[in-house]
Amino acid sequence: MSQTLIRGRLLTFVNEPQGPDDLGAYRYLEDGALLVDQGLIQAVDDYVALKAIAPTAPEVDHRPNLILPGFIDTHLHFPQVQVIASWGAQLLDWLNTYTFPEETRFADPQHAARMATAFFDSLMANGTTTAVAYCSVHAASAEAFFAEAERRNLRMIGGKVMMDRNAPDGLRDTPQTGYDDTKALIERWHGRGRGLYAISPRFAITSTPEQLEAAGALVAEHPDCYMQTHLSENMDEIAFTAELYPDARDYLDVYERFGLLSDKALLGHAIHLKPREIDALVEFDARPVFCPTSNLFLGSGLFDHQGLQERGLTNAIATDIGGGTSFSMLQTLNEGYKILQLRKQRLHPLAAFYWITRGNAKALGLESKIGSLEPGHEADFVVLDAHATPAMALRSERAETLSEELFILQIMGDDRAIHQTYVAGQPQK
Ligand code: GUN
Ligand code: ZN
Repeated sequence: MSQTLIRGRLLTFVNEPQGPDDLGAYRYLEDGALLVDQGLIQAVDDYVALKAIAPTAPEVDHRPNLILPGFIDTHLHFPQVQVIASWGAQLLDWLNTYTFPEETRFADPQHAARMATAFFDSLMANGTTTAVAYCSVHAASAEAFFAEAERRNLRMIGGKVMMDRNAPDGLRDTPQTGYDDTKALIERWHGRGRGLYAISPRFAITSTPEQLEAAGALVAEHPDCYMQTHLSENMDEIAFTAELYPDARDYLDVYERFGLLSDKALLGHAIHLKPREIDALVEFDARPVFCPTSNLFLGSGLFDHQGLQERGLTNAIATDIGGGTSFSMLQTLNEGYKILQLRKQRLHPLAAFYWITRGNAKALGLESKIGSLEPGHEADFVVLDAHATPAMALRSERAETLSEELFILQIMGDDRAIHQTYVAGQPQK
């Protein structure tokens, strides 16, 4: 037995909070503890109750800080760590000017390995314990991603992008090599340790119909893998897609007709949707992914969270590094709050913290493993400090409720507010 008792103020969600007074949606223990053993949460209760069960277990006391499930980032780009903060462009120019040239560097396994270390260090610093990442077109980049994630025992999802046109030399595969490389990576990494694979046709513009057909074959052959791509992020992107796929009814139809849609489909951005596209998203129960910092940085548009939710869709939320500007899911919530303000929608802090934990786990179909502090769940959690900076400490003097404390973290928090990140019960910071 290698039990550890982790003590602190515990917060975990049971359902999505429907408003500030939805007390049944979460569980909060003022002096709580997690009993952790062999990477799993064995028990969750008041400290005194767990101390009685495990009187000799070593203890870590995180009071007065808050312990929450580890954050989940459902869309970001591993080869874009050095693209963040590239000036002055919207989506297509930004891809061609900055992003594609940068991604060509990931043909070099040494560069990919160095960036994988930096990438996972950044996730840990920001309390993100699970992420869904696009790697570059090179199989070597996915190898570096999964190998480093396995070394750290992280629950990570990723895939090499498939892209065979409208991209520079050194950054294209073919329908056949994209299929073969993806197949080999799935066989090597999907379900190995805590790794899971996402079949990743980058977006309609960079794939020929032949390649999307190959992606559809992969989806049919591996229904337990994820499928991730981009959808309706930018008006020029939508117009170019319509030119490339003149027979498609709309953007989503490009993916629909090649069999890419299901509840395992993660559709990044999904901003400028037509009514038929929303109907189809509902029909397939596909997952729109809100990427607030990216949508503001690239001037893409304002995601309609409430509108899609009211149709019964499960929206995910993500950083979209490097179109996104911060690895922090707290900063992602901050910018998300502001986007929804412009839409006259209100993101309550309880709903916000549900979203980046259990909500994103639900969007990934991983609710029984991650996203909550529950017995039997993987012991991935974060310790949050709402007094982490002088400004936060000053503001916190005037906070009286849990919701107020959470909102300070949501708006003012970043990596400095992440006091500790635990993966499979092990501290990472
Ligand atoms: N669409 C296709 N590729 C990308 C990418 O790398 N970032 C964003 N934001 N949108 C994309
Ligand atoms: Zn993206």
